[in-house]
Amino acid sequence: MTLADHFTPNRPVVLAGAGKMGGALLSGWLAGGMPPKAVRVVDPSPPPDSAAFMARAGMEHGSTLPKLKASVLVVAVKPQMMGTVLPALAGIVDERTIVISIAAGTTIAQLRDGTGARRIVRTMPNTPAQIGKGVTVAVASDPADLDAREVTDALLQAAGTVEWVNDEKLIDAVTAVSGSGPAYVFLLAETLAEAGVAVGLEPTMSRRLADATVAGAGALLAHSREDPAVLRKNVTSPGGTTAAALAVLMADDGLPQLMRRAVQEAKRRAEELARPAADS
Ligand SMILES: NC(=O)c1ccc[n+]([C@@H]2O[C@H](COP(=O)([O-])OP(=O)(O)OC[C@H]3O[C@@H](n4cnc5c(N)ncnc54)[C@H](OP(=O)(O)O)[C@@H]3O)[C@@H](O)[C@H]2O)c1
Repeated sequence: MTLADHFTPNRPVVLAGAGKMGGALLSGWLAGGMPPKAVRVVDPSPPPDSAAFMARAGMEHGSTLPKLKASVLVVAVKPQMMGTVLPALAGIVDERTIVISIAAGTTIAQLRDGTGARRIVRTMPNTPAQIGKGVTVAVASDPADLDAREVTDALLQAAGTVEWVNDEKLIDAVTAVSGSGPAYVFLLAETLAEAGVAVGLEPTMSRRLADATVAGAGALLAHSREDPAVLRKNVTSPGGTTAAALAVLMADDGLPQLMRRAVQEAKRRAEELARPAADS
């Protein structure tokens, strides 16, 4: 399915929120051949870069809702805005509308209660989506709704790859791994640079080396068909320098243990954040 086949000016996708994430999706859709008039943007004050590329594409935005029912509504506002935004969007939702949310912590039940929609897809993207290199995990209110799944794949692939789960509870684990995961990798780059300074490198040089190493290793992992453990072993000569460092990193209190604790803590926090709102 191409975006241009599915969405037309009379059967548009409505995007609520054209900020960092919504704006990245929108630019991916336009780059993927979506006609600008097949998207209606509801955002009273998008950031300047989103506003600029919408202006270049001849697109309008504002707080006025289109005077039609949306075939697909993508909700990309901050989770704390959901309580007011969802009821305001209910007027453009009917029983055929597919509501796709990218908001952290907003449940399928909340999206249903807020908009009245029957067909809902809750997703969890991550920040590399801003350059089309994200991974998004999706869960549908009805796993048998293959049309909702196809439309979600087509729209979210503008931000990178899309994976599916059938159990909404897994979204908290997904949040702890891929949702929060980019920050763990950025921390690795920060701490590698700091460690380089501690062994005598000049700070800006150490930063360049660490950033390039993390980015390059990530690109090699993405490009290679090998498991990361194989790539690691490939650069570890017995008795060599890498082996000396890995003996520290992989000790009993090392990175594997720390990562497990960090991911468990992120999952616990995701559950905690979803709970009060889900109970309300
Ligand atoms: N950024 C990420 O990498 C990331 C990763 C995973 C999930 N997410 C999810 O993506 C969602 C959007 O995050 P973001 O970082 O893109 O946020 P953002 O940059 O703040 O974008 C949200 C946009 O929605 C606008 N908005 C506010 N009220 C609105 C309303 N009533 N109707 C329509 N638009 C409205 C905001 O305008 P104002 O600025 O004027 O309020 C802003 O332009 C969040 O729910 C977040 O959980 C983001």
